[in-house]
Amino acid sequence: MSGVAVEGDVALADRWGLPGRESPDGAEASLVLRREDGRLVLAGDPRAYGKPLAVDFVAGRAAHRRRFGGGRGQLIARACGLARGVTPSVVDATAGLGRDAFVLAALGAEVLMIERVAAIAALLEDGLARARADADTAEIAARMRLAHGDAGRDLASLVANGGVAPQVVHLDPMFPHREKSALVKKEMRLFRELAGDDADAPRLLEAALDVATHRVVVKRPRKAPPISGPAPRHVLEGKTSRYDLYVHRALTPP
Ligand SMILES: C[S@@+](CC[C@H](N)C(=O)[O-])C[C@H]1O[C@@H](n2cnc3c(N)ncnc32)[C@H](O)[C@@H]1O
Repeated sequence: MSGVAVEGDVALADRWGLPGRESPDGAEASLVLRREDGRLVLAGDPRAYGKPLAVDFVAGRAAHRRRFGGGRGQLIARACGLARGVTPSVVDATAGLGRDAFVLAALGAEVLMIERVAAIAALLEDGLARARADADTAEIAARMRLAHGDAGRDLASLVANGGVAPQVVHLDPMFPHREKSALVKKEMRLFRELAGDDADAPRLLEAALDVATHRVVVKRPRKAPPISGPAPRHVLEGKTSRYDLYVHRALTPP
């Protein structure tokens, strides 16, 4: 895995324990975190990685899905148990770019996002700050928190300090699969370079089953096998992805 360096922001480099671009450790890094047009982006050689990556909860895909996404009928909402009169709190222990977390928060859930890769957590923190400052998304962003750490190792303490009850734990670990469009491929390449293949997903599932009070929800590509471990109790299938549900107890209205 190649490294990430921070360009032109010593405080940010210190905050996330990353080398500065100008330091010997940072000079060789193939990816760079820097500010561009008021947002933090992660950029590499565009021929290999495509456009710089940023977390954007205000515009683009997130905004479109917030307006036209299908509400609580969406697969992720059903999988996480959001129903009439029931809005569980969710720990998204594989936050990534926060897309799933934002959908759940937009539907009313309190969400704790946990991300172990410092550069991705830095993008999330920046995206969250911009969402809190925007009138259209401030209320949603107020329901979202972020913790940086390894959920497979430290889930219980991350949750204890995170301020969100783990009624549902949502997992979406990386799975090595083929993507159709070249554009997605480049974004995935960048992401995979940082996050790896999440080969430790069975340990994460075990930790999630220990900590969740009501259910664990695992997003998988439709044809992928479930994560090794106990068999899911229910399966919800969509067009391209599937949710494996591990249920401890029913979610009921307060
Ligand atoms: C496929 S991405 C998740 C995408 C996310 N669902 C979204 O909507 O943007 C998986 C992410 O989970 C993170 N991850 C995997 N295992 C983790 C763990 N044990 N603790 C914290 N984060 C983890 C990876 O670093 C990666 O960013």
